Amino acid sequence: MNILILGGGGREHALAWAVMQNPKCDRLIVAPGNAGIAQIAECASIDINDGGLVATFAEENAIDFVIVGPEAPLAAGVADRLRNAGVTTFGPSKAAAELEASKGFTKEICDACGAPTAAWARFTEAEAAKAYVREQGAPIVVKADGLAAGKGVIVAMELDTALAAIDDMFGGEFGDAGAEVVIEEFMEGEEASFFVLVDGEEALPIGTAQDHKRVGEGDTGPNTGGMGAYSPAPVLTDEVAQKVMDRIVKPTAAEMARRGTPYQGVLYVGLMIKDGEPRLVEYNVRFGDPECQVLMMRLGAQALDLLQAAAEGRLAEAKVNWADDHAMTVVMAATGYPGAYEKGSVIGGLDALPESSSQMVFHAGTGEKDGQIVATGGRVLNVTARGATLQEARDRAYTMIDRIDWPEGFYRKDIGWRAL
Ligand code: AMP
Ligand code: GLY
Repeated sequence: MNILILGGGGREHALAWAVMQNPKCDRLIVAPGNAGIAQIAECASIDINDGGLVATFAEENAIDFVIVGPEAPLAAGVADRLRNAGVTTFGPSKAAAELEASKGFTKEICDACGAPTAAWARFTEAEAAKAYVREQGAPIVVKADGLAAGKGVIVAMELDTALAAIDDMFGGEFGDAGAEVVIEEFMEGEEASFFVLVDGEEALPIGTAQDHKRVGEGDTGPNTGGMGAYSPAPVLTDEVAQKVMDRIVKPTAAEMARRGTPYQGVLYVGLMIKDGEPRLVEYNVRFGDPECQVLMMRLGAQALDLLQAAAEGRLAEAKVNWADDHAMTVVMAATGYPGAYEKGSVIGGLDALPESSSQMVFHAGTGEKDGQIVATGGRVLNVTARGATLQEARDRAYTMIDRIDWPEGFYRKDIGWRAL
């Protein structure tokens, strides 16, 4: 089978790594890929948000199966274009990708199917939004409706912060994404993520994870795309997971199908859990990054069979072979991230690191220059390991980090602290 993966981050390196281990994979192309992916697959630099171009590329390369990594091509309808061209594709249609592309849409779906989530209201005008916030009081959460690269959410502990956020959003800080604003009740509890494959009708859980969004130790400082993650998430017990399936995931899938826009792909269910009761924070229509890295390390080669079953509507007969293991990934980022940082510094020590089915360095923002690996982004490496316990996975990951020579990088030393 010839496979094309769209994307070029740590998530796509992990997907490529798992897919490559499956004997069904004859040829793997990743577009655009990165320096780490180039060590295990072919990379092609094409504009992955251009559906026509991707469909032509797939046809020219006799691609049998496409896996879409990031949300942007999904929101742009790339999966629709590929399916119209007859290419089996893992990832939701543009219409179903609204579950991530519009927070107001997701809230409407929750109301329609009775899924538990924070109370909410949506506004297209600042004064009405401010009046509502004053009435509700702080803490309160202000969200740009559209895609804002994870930055469009302000959890306001004070009223003034919420009012300022409303001004910023309607003032154009997030462009079109902020033309509409969703205001939500502040939910307390512990956050965790649940990953479920959906084939339009059936839903199959493939793992849980928790990530660390803040840049600093003790979960302090500015938000980032994620500084590390581990799987499974202890707070998502089997009992809680069953509630999430029965009250949130299955009703959502049924409602999407009822509207004529069935969901196919991975549903990333962001949850707030308090006293064993889960509520939805948000949906993403793709794997988390870096959560995907720990999921792929735990699933290995079977990931390809599972994604294919989702894309082909065969999840009813699919089964996950669980190992009783744990995985952790620690993000190494460029000094300065998530603010300004330098690009181009050389990363040493990677060649000498033993890599196996239990430990891998997935590349996020890397390139190759004169035979050396250089940093090209903010989040640069995802040092990932698996073990019989979370402690063992953690120790393996940090032992690898000790052998990586990159003075211009940094990482958090406390990934997993809550679970350990
Ligand atoms: P989102 O981009 O929707 O995941 O929001 C980013 C982060 O903001 C989440 O991971 C939560 O930590 C926080 N958040 C979002 N919505 C709420 C809410 N209603 N109550 C409390 N925290 C929230
Ligand atoms: N790690 C958070 C995300 O992928 O959205």
